Amino acid sequence: MPRYHLTTFGCQMNAHDSERMHGLLGSLGYEEAPDRDGADLILFNTCTIRGSADERFMGNLGEAKRIKRERPDVVVAVGGCWAQSQKESVFRDFPFVDIAFGPGEVNRLGELLARERIQAVGAFTFDGRFSGDLPSLRERPHQAWVQISVGCNCVCSYCIVPSVRGRESSRPVEGVLDEVHRQAADGVVEVTLLGQNVNSYGRDLPASSRASFADLLAQVAAVPGIERVRYTSPHPKDIRDDVIAVHRDVAEVCPHIHLPAQSGSTRVLKAMRRTYDRDRYLALVDRIRDAVPDIALTTDLIVGFPGETDEDFADTLSLVQTVGYDGAYTFVYSPRPGTEAGESMDDDVAPEVKSERIAALIEVVQQTARGRLARHVGSVAPVLVEGVSRTDDSRMSGRTGHNVTVNFSGDATPGSIVPVAIEASTSTTLAGTLAAVAQPAGAA
Ligand code: 5AD
Ligand code: SF4
Repeated sequence: MPRYHLTTFGCQMNAHDSERMHGLLGSLGYEEAPDRDGADLILFNTCTIRGSADERFMGNLGEAKRIKRERPDVVVAVGGCWAQSQKESVFRDFPFVDIAFGPGEVNRLGELLARERIQAVGAFTFDGRFSGDLPSLRERPHQAWVQISVGCNCVCSYCIVPSVRGRESSRPVEGVLDEVHRQAADGVVEVTLLGQNVNSYGRDLPASSRASFADLLAQVAAVPGIERVRYTSPHPKDIRDDVIAVHRDVAEVCPHIHLPAQSGSTRVLKAMRRTYDRDRYLALVDRIRDAVPDIALTTDLIVGFPGETDEDFADTLSLVQTVGYDGAYTFVYSPRPGTEAGESMDDDVAPEVKSERIAALIEVVQQTARGRLARHVGSVAPVLVEGVSRTDDSRMSGRTGHNVTVNFSGDATPGSIVPVAIEASTSTTLAGTLAAVAQPAGAA
């Protein structure tokens, strides 16, 4: 049996595409190798969101080059966003690469392997087949991703995604629901709907198969066996009141929204072309909290965007405190080729200022999150059991509806949702004790 080794970089979209690659390769008779040295096919699923993503991948590709030198029969295949962004030059700059394919061509991997040294990183040749239609090997048996759209029509001035993932295209409702039904029959209890701009879903579909994002959420939540529905990532501009109402009214839709703000400064938001300002963002947060007071909000924030002043940055710090995020991903601005900011704005915030700002931001994010997570101590939270704790094998681990990891003592079946008495918290996790006997999977 030929053996493959796959390394995945980047976001959940890529992690999900990699599940498909595992499934596809399994169905083609490949077996997974524990490391690259033992593989006949060295495969990468790449990201290019920031310069640091490129650098990390270059280190890994260097190892593939060494292996190829020692064993010229090895096939080196590079998929995903970096491959798409380098389509003009990948074979010239990296002659040991045999196969390159973009994020829309995962389903062609088999065909590409049959005809080596071939490139499928054309002009977004997304063929309307969503990866949900491919075989898949899920990482966790009870949790699944469901791709509901590909691509992104936003023009955020810092972001390379629209140029590597193409225009937005929604998957018809029936295809989404069919997949969720199949997953539920297979033991899945939690689904996460995926899209680059997940909540602008449906606007490009023909009237006959169109649903709003809010309708889709409710329909997915109604699939028997599905107990939790999540989604990522939404754009604040597309969170309408009907989506907020679904959070309020539909028990399966989890009390958590990841709401990328990017900056707290109206001036910077404008230069980023985010299409909302600080006040509109805060008004949205108020509407959400009016409907679901205890909802968890998390976000993405960038520091050091071109022209960001001390005052702009102070606005970002104060946004974190004003909103009270349960968590945040923080990034240093990285100019990307082909983006508006990368091409036409001066990357003028000094590296030491960027470092100071990210450190200060992380501090405030942690402080805020610690304060927020502490509110759970003393309550009993429903926890979807994932398995044995990674840090302590005498304990179990799972997630609350608010999407916080809980390590707890007591015996519980993976895939069941159990009540856990929360006894302690940090800025990112909770700890507690099983409060009652676990329900077997599927009994609820
Ligand atoms: N520099 C820094 N961060 C970026 N992001 C996207 N593009 C860039 C960039 N050029 C961040 C945004 C986005 C997250 C996935 O990555 O915060 O929401
Ligand atoms: Fe990276 Fe963006 Fe591609 Fe995801 S979509 S893999 S974050 S470049």
